This record gives sequence, structure tokens and C-alpha cells, in this order.
Amino acid sequence: MSQSAPLEVSDTPLAVRVRDLSKSYGEVKAVRGISLEIPRGCVAALLGPNGAGKTTTLEIIEGLRRADSGQVEVLGTSPERARRRVGVQLQESALYEDLTCNETLRLFGRLYGYEADAAALLELVEMGEVGDRRATNLSGGQKRRLQIALTLCNDPELVVLDEPTTGLDPIARRQTWAMIRALHDQGRTVVLTTHYIEEADQLAEMVWIIDQGQVVAQGSPSELVAELGAAANVSVAAGEAAGLDQVAGVVRGEWRDGRWELQTREVGGVLREIADRVGEEALRDVSVRPPTLEDVFLRRTGRRLGEEGA
Ligand SMILES: Nc1ncnc2c1ncn2[C@@H]1O[C@H](COP(=O)(O)OP(=O)(O)OP(=O)(O)O)[C@@H](O)[C@H]1O
Ligand SMILES: [Mg+2]
Repeated sequence: MSQSAPLEVSDTPLAVRVRDLSKSYGEVKAVRGISLEIPRGCVAALLGPNGAGKTTTLEIIEGLRRADSGQVEVLGTSPERARRRVGVQLQESALYEDLTCNETLRLFGRLYGYEADAAALLELVEMGEVGDRRATNLSGGQKRRLQIALTLCNDPELVVLDEPTTGLDPIARRQTWAMIRALHDQGRTVVLTTHYIEEADQLAEMVWIIDQGQVVAQGSPSELVAELGAAANVSVAAGEAAGLDQVAGVVRGEWRDGRWELQTREVGGVLREIADRVGEEALRDVSVRPPTLEDVFLRRTGRRLGEEGA
């Protein structure tokens, strides 16, 4: 069925419903059967490595790209009809360098037929003092924040942010998180993409882990982690020859950069056996941490999120 035929239910509590979406660019299968159900009012994250198909999925939701097959419903209607109710930050978008922040916001508002309250929007993104500054004179982080303010010009119910914090320093990233939480507190639905595990973990109520055009896991961060059966990660500095992946109780183990990285639900027993195998010495450099979304990705794909080919 084509995406231009929305699903029949239109008073859905879902902000976005995507069913079995596929999209290829020539030979490249960018999206291979993605389904998403994003409730209204939540912050949802699509988490995945470069080339996973996140931007393609968002552009179809935004009505900027057509799917090859599958169904898409946005705010109870087609992406095209919903467009005026959706605020969009593209992964790469330019600002008019010669316009001031105030002028840029008013221009974008008018494009949507809105009289944007530039001062209030700049206040929201903590840029109240720079309304009269030209875009060309803003820092990278300020430009990104202005772009988030621009997504709000049409007072959207749904805000779609493609990698809102990529390239920002940790402080600017946290400021952006605070803004996104403010949008959530205003009752808007936020859908964002990210490569950052911590960002999905800290911000999102629902996470879809996307890899190679498919959803490999979905749920709240805590549900996804709980799915691992609460296996902890034990990291021990020891030679490859120690073969610690063979220790009883280790569910998965690999040797990287001079350390064994092990997953286990039986931390005590595993540590005792490691001590027997490699001597108490090894236990001087050992760390134990609870599982994270990174472990969910590793479990589902056999790779780490930042790894080559991931
Ligand atoms: N316009 C295009 N023409 C051809 N191939 C494309 C086009 N846009 C994306 N692709 C390819 O489709 C795949 C998915 O790309 P997409 O941009 O959706 O991924 P992404 O998850 O957003 O990646 P990133 O994290 O790098 O932004 C990639 O292999 C990419 O090279
Ligand atoms: Mg992208």
C-alpha cells in the first residue's frame, strides 16, 4: 500500500505510525521494513550508527521523501497534510547568514503563516541576548539552538530533530537536552535521531535501535536493558591467553585492547574464578558496571555502536 493512503483510524493517540516502511536509493536499501508507533507527548529516539536509515525514515515522516512501500501516518493523517503541524530540524540546514536571529525567526514564521514571537522563542533556547546578532556571528552551538527555535515557528505539535547535538561540546549538549525537555513539558511530541547512547538513555522515553535499515530493538531504555537479564559487564586487564570467556557464568566475552570484556549475571562467582585462573593480581584492575543500551546494541548486532562497520 502506498504511503499516500493513510491508515483508516485518524483519532489515534499516536503522533507517528509507520508500518513496514522500505526505501532504496538505487542499489542501496536504506530502509528495510521499519515499523514505529510513537505516542503523542513522548520523547522518542531513533538510535543507530551512520547509514542506519534514520534520516531517510525521518524525511519520509516529514513528507520530504516518498517511501517505496509501507504506510506512514503523522498526527492522524498523511505526512503531507500534517506538515504545517510539524516542526523540522534537518540534519544539515543552512541559515541566512545576513539575517539576525529575530529576522530569521519572523521570516520562517511567515512562511508558515504565523507571526512568530521571536523574543519568546529565543528565550526558550537561552539566546535572549542575541536577537539582533546576525547568524554569521553566532557560535556553532548558538546556530544549532537557533535552528531548534526555528522548528517552533509554527507552534508544532510534533518536533522532529535530526541529530540535534552532533558535534556539540558536553555543556552545549546538556543545554540542548534541557530545551528538548522543555518542549516535552509543553506537551509536544519530540522525535530525534542520535548516535549517542547517553542521549537516548537520558532523554528518550522510547527508543528504537536502528541498524542497516531495520529496527533491531525497541522499548524504554530501562526495558531494553532489562531484556538483557541484568547481565553486568566485568572488565579485567589480562592477556588474551587467559581465555576468560570460558569462565563458568560468562554469557559473552571478548578480548580488546589488553582487556577481557565479559558479561555475566554471576559477578561474584566469575570474579572468584578469574582470581583462581589469573591470580589475585589481575583483580587489581577490574571494573564492574551495569548494562547499558550499548550492550543491547552489541547483543542484537554483534557490533558496538561506534565500531567500524556499525
Ligand atoms: N540521497 C541519497 N542517495 C543515495 N543514497 C543515499 C541517499 N541518502 C542516503 N543514502 C544512503 O542510504 C543509507 C541510509 O542513509 P541515512 O542518511 O538514512 O542514514 P542515517 O542513519 O541518517 O545516517 P547518519 O547517522 O550518518 O546521518 C546510507 O547507506 C546512505 O549512504
Ligand atoms: Mg542521518
